[in-house]
Amino acid sequence: MSENGQIYRISGPVVTAIGLDSKMYDVVRVGDEGLMGEVIELHGDKAVIQVYEDTSGVRPGEPVVNTGLTLAVQLGPGLLTQIYDGIQRPLPVMQEKMGTFITRGVDADGLDQKKKWTFEPTAKKGDKVESGQTIGTVQETPTIAHKIMIPPNMSGTIKSIKGGDFTVSDTVCTLEDGTEIAMMQRWPVRAPRPYRQKYAPDTPLVTGMRILDFLFPLAKGGAAGIPGPFGSGKTVTQQSLAKYSDAQIVVYIGCGERGNEMTEVLDEFPELIDPNTGKPLMNRTVMIANTSNMPVAAREASVYTGITIAEYFRDMGYDVALMADSTSRWAEAMREISSRLEEMPGEEGYPAYLSSRLAEFYERAGRVETLEGEDGSVTVIGAVSPPGGDISEPVSQGTLRIVKVFWGLDAPLARQRHFPAINWLNSYSLYPQSLDQWFKDNIAADFPEIRTEISSLLQVEAELQEIVQLVGSDALPVDQQLTLEVARMIREYFLQQNAFHDVDAYTGVQQQYQMAKAILTFQSEAKTAIEAGGLLEDVVNVPARSDLMRARFEGEYLSRIEGLVDEMTKQIAAAAEEN
Ligand SMILES: Nc1ncnc2c1ncn2[C@@H]1O[C@H](COP(=O)(O)OP(=O)(O)OP(=O)(O)O)[C@@H](O)[C@H]1O
Ligand SMILES: [Mg+2]
Repeated sequence: MSENGQIYRISGPVVTAIGLDSKMYDVVRVGDEGLMGEVIELHGDKAVIQVYEDTSGVRPGEPVVNTGLTLAVQLGPGLLTQIYDGIQRPLPVMQEKMGTFITRGVDADGLDQKKKWTFEPTAKKGDKVESGQTIGTVQETPTIAHKIMIPPNMSGTIKSIKGGDFTVSDTVCTLEDGTEIAMMQRWPVRAPRPYRQKYAPDTPLVTGMRILDFLFPLAKGGAAGIPGPFGSGKTVTQQSLAKYSDAQIVVYIGCGERGNEMTEVLDEFPELIDPNTGKPLMNRTVMIANTSNMPVAAREASVYTGITIAEYFRDMGYDVALMADSTSRWAEAMREISSRLEEMPGEEGYPAYLSSRLAEFYERAGRVETLEGEDGSVTVIGAVSPPGGDISEPVSQGTLRIVKVFWGLDAPLARQRHFPAINWLNSYSLYPQSLDQWFKDNIAADFPEIRTEISSLLQVEAELQEIVQLVGSDALPVDQQLTLEVARMIREYFLQQNAFHDVDAYTGVQQQYQMAKAILTFQSEAKTAIEAGGLLEDVVNVPARSDLMRARFEGEYLSRIEGLVDEMTKQIAAAAEEN
């Protein structure tokens, strides 16, 4: 413990202390109630502190105590299935401790210190070990084995190691030099965890959302932004990704705009079943929940808490997906703290360092070679809520400069109930080139060409629509009318996807490819039939086309698709002959 200080001034979540012996980022206890805070600026003998709890009623003259620690998370067995606040206090424990009254200054360990876990050593006496190396495992949940690793910046030779049931703080391994290693380690949240090297991304994060995987794929270890106006589907999209993407671990940071939005998530998530394992999704999930009534500084910290936990599982060799919904609420927390600090405001009142903070956050995404030489990844998907949906604002722009994938949600599409309301004309992914090899090897050699054909049909449709607006579609030549019909099929049959439908909510990439090919087959067969004298109306309205469209809701798609396409082909040819 260092020398105590005194509160000098209070401005919302920002408190200035005098006489406090402290360094930047020291965690301190503020006031008689011991509210938790972090030193964020030093000016001579004044320390500026952001406080993670409500400061109302706190007065100048009350004490400030330095804990000498930096803001850190506890990492070890017990993270999964947890729901934390922004500074890793488990919400259920907090509720118990606080009862119905919101008391302040409550301490709660991120990891249960009493619970015993069965540790199975994988290293033995005499082994030379280095930071990041696995020395044993704990079956943390039915689906996830938690690797116990030598903490960063530690190495030596194992003197003793024992299996059995231990708490996270018990010593499970001792090194020759006397260093005792427990299953739990601490890591300061603002510093990225170490790895050997970053790799270029080469594998997609398969999401099961057709528009995403097929047209705008995200790489494992990549970063994506989802800007969208109020009610356009940011939360539904993030939750679909949490449910269905092929990450092994999910970290979900909710910064609810509305108090009840987070409650919905908290009620719903624990009920969800992982479609891959049939077990609760929470088995592979860590949630961080900020409701709008929680203090802004905790919201500011939550993003760092989340990404540090994500990196920790990455270090075990897992593919981790982190969702932050919405990063705009995080940026607003920064803005509020910055204004309390009386910093020179940048664009729209956000601090000048907004874009560098955003960059630092997204840059913690990546596919890496871990310290142990394994492959692990953190994929980051951040929702952005631009006021009025106008993405020229600083948070959207700052995000777009960094992320390589942009999934733009669109109010008009949401109004038409075209879901997911992702605008295919302005969304993009810069990954296809690095991922095409994977798609060719794992799906089909012509996958990239099929994708190109589908997206150019959508582009052509957009151009034709402009003419249609002026003169109506009947004025168009028949081949262009057919193009419009095919594009409509792409939109309604392929791009639209109901996140709440048991079957439709998830589509594997092979099926996506088959669906896309079926549409192109429809196009070419219809074209041939029309050239042979068929009437557009007859050719495009064959019943087999509707059967094919419906099949996406019915399951067993891959075993049925060939038959459905054959039948459609026959009916189209027959429709031409009738004429
Ligand atoms: N993929 C989808 N499938 C079906 N319905 C959807 C889909 N996406 C969004 N919706 C509908 O749109 C509604 C609003 O979506 P959501 O709550 O995700 O919006 P949001 O962008 O998070 O809004 P807010 O800005 O209020 O946080 C949902 O309740 C749902 O009815
Ligand atoms: Mg939302």
